Amino acid sequence: MAEAGLFDIMYSTRSMRKLKTDPVPDAVIHQIMEAATRAPSGTNTQHWRFLVVKDPAVKQQVQALYQKGWSEAKAMYDNRPGPEHMSQNQFGRLLDAATHLAEHMAEAPVLIFACLKERPLPPQLAARLGRLAGSSIYPAVQNILLTCRALGLGATLTTVASLHEDELKQVLGLPADVNTYALIPIGYPLGKFGPVKRLPVEEVTCLDKWGQAFVK
Ligand SMILES: Cc1cc2nc3c(=O)[nH]c(=O)nc-3n(C[C@H](O)[C@H](O)[C@H](O)COP(=O)(O)O)c2cc1C
Repeated sequence: MAEAGLFDIMYSTRSMRKLKTDPVPDAVIHQIMEAATRAPSGTNTQHWRFLVVKDPAVKQQVQALYQKGWSEAKAMYDNRPGPEHMSQNQFGRLLDAATHLAEHMAEAPVLIFACLKERPLPPQLAARLGRLAGSSIYPAVQNILLTCRALGLGATLTTVASLHEDELKQVLGLPADVNTYALIPIGYPLGKFGPVKRLPVEEVTCLDKWGQAFVK
């Protein structure tokens, strides 16, 4: 069990993109996967599927696709302003860290793919529910991130590998009805955990109706 309290962990679960190559014991990976599978899913379907990748050859192929996806995403970010609450410098540092991860993805001792085994929806619901596609997998992903933090492991929620889903499926041998939603590289961190930087509650929360201030 984690030594630190839930809030300590939650408030310091940052993206850790610089990782040591030291192996992560299988028992630890199993503990992370068990925590992932304690998450909620719509009607408790649990149609999540996870792929733990440790094989260097597979990781190398994943990195190639990830880098392809990241270079497309980076080109987009280079041509539009970053989030309003970040200075250009801060956003530049984020992009640099993400580029570092893209260039070193295969060196992470463990890559976890969070996938969903898709279930066909009735057409009258499909259009409306499409927007909620990932909602049954991302709670499990957050459990992975929090558990890694609790165990002293660095991790990052990433998505750009999925920009090349068809090729990724071939590399991973995924069946047609299983799609990837996140790739989480995991390893012991090179840097230190620290507090996450987020906007204050009052700036992002309304009371009763949009535009009405929520105050303590
Ligand atoms: C939906 C989603 C997609 C993300 N995709 C990527 C990604 O492809 N590559 C990456 O390096 N970070 C990715 N991130 C990490 C975010 O950049 C990061 O969480 C955010 O900048 C806040 O930084 P922090 O986690 O260090 O507090 C993603 C995060 C989310 C929630």
